[in-house]
Amino acid sequence: MNEPGGHNAGGTVARQQAIYRHGMAGRRPCVPVDYDALERAAGDRLSAEAFAYIAGGAGRESTMAANRAAFERWRIVPRMLRDVATRDTSIELFGQRLPSPFLLCPIGVLEMAHNDADVGVARAAAERGVPMIFSNQASRSMEQCADAMERLRPGAPRWFQLYWSKSDALVESLVARAEGCGCSALVVTLDTTLLGWRPRDLDLAHLPFLLGQGIAQYTSDTVFRSALREAADDGPRPPITTRTLRNVVAAARHYPGSGLRALTSGDALAAVRHFIATYSRPNISWDDLAWLRERTRLPIVLKGVLDGDDARLAVAHGVDGLIVSNHGGRQVDGARASLNALPEIVAAAPDLPVILDSGVRGGADLFKALALGASAVGLGRPYAYGLALAGEAGVGEVIDNLAADFELTMALAGCRNIAEVARARLLPADARGD
Ligand SMILES: Cc1cc2nc3c(=O)[nH]c(=O)nc-3n(C[C@H](O)[C@H](O)[C@H](O)COP(=O)(O)O)c2cc1C
Repeated sequence: MNEPGGHNAGGTVARQQAIYRHGMAGRRPCVPVDYDALERAAGDRLSAEAFAYIAGGAGRESTMAANRAAFERWRIVPRMLRDVATRDTSIELFGQRLPSPFLLCPIGVLEMAHNDADVGVARAAAERGVPMIFSNQASRSMEQCADAMERLRPGAPRWFQLYWSKSDALVESLVARAEGCGCSALVVTLDTTLLGWRPRDLDLAHLPFLLGQGIAQYTSDTVFRSALREAADDGPRPPITTRTLRNVVAAARHYPGSGLRALTSGDALAAVRHFIATYSRPNISWDDLAWLRERTRLPIVLKGVLDGDDARLAVAHGVDGLIVSNHGGRQVDGARASLNALPEIVAAAPDLPVILDSGVRGGADLFKALALGASAVGLGRPYAYGLALAGEAGVGEVIDNLAADFELTMALAGCRNIAEVARARLLPADARGD
């Protein structure tokens, strides 16, 4: 990949050459390059439950389809004879120079994909200087991930994503930990105050959090752990079967320290119950942002904005950035495509960095999002599938492939840098029958 800020000598295009060179020695890439093939291969590898959780969306998954259709509606108009021998794909975001205009979206419960989980992703991201947004529902604590990143590349960019808990003290603690971990922005996800209706998970009657998965940011938190003693223990219980017992033991194994102690003390199950009772506060409103602003010096980025009026409200409330996202179609089935919302949001918040996620699958998608006004894009499911297939190395390949694909698309469309991509012409696919 490009060094951050650097003009590329070998550049990300070196990735393409390396693949063909290795092919001469009979070696193939460790994960499929094509997204559909990548998803199919991950589906073959993962348990039914894990694949359903990652691949699935809300309701009839019409928003997942809309996300892709929105990208397909636009065509790039390549320009010729523009001397693209020297290229620069880097951008600056919140004072940091990034090698390519993309970040890794927060994805929860990565242990379902691979035992490397968040730490494998953190290492792959750090090695390449691509920011990772630590999920609030991570399988490994933010400290573990930050530590792994520091070892590989001191100062490797990372952000933290917050779900606004019912416990103010927990929110304060998570934010302070994110600052302590060297995170350079705080992403507040707004679209998941309640969990969406997800038929694939419902059909398997499977929710990973109940098994103690994806709650590492909580079980590693002193405020959360000290609240366990007082946590109410009066919720409904599942019927007791041998499967229930096996799942209880599994939950205890996920709790830090001795699994046996977590089991006998009841802490592991108390943690799951307390998490379910407090993980999100559906009554948050715009006025709450002032409270958060007072508690952190980090830039606050709102994730899940899909409406121009909400973007204007965000500006009025002094936030520092926006992520246009429908959570990969996992929350409101029938919600508009994220890319279709982008121009309206950029117009409503012209001075803020606007990041686009949901449906990004290849270099052309990055190009289109940037040409429609995004400052950067977020990569989601593709890297989770790379992780599923080959752990850290698989995530690395997915990142390298996207960077190379984007750089080639940019160059072949006649652009030398991101400013030129931002000015590039797109045409609606239906306007001229392109
Ligand atoms: C399995 C899975 C888990 C996710 N977990 C989180 C999360 O913990 N926090 C969050 O803000 N978004 C989460 N998201 C949403 C992503 O950050 C991102 O918005 C989405 O993946 C983009 O859609 P795409 O993957 O289809 O491109 C998750 C998405 C998936 C697929």
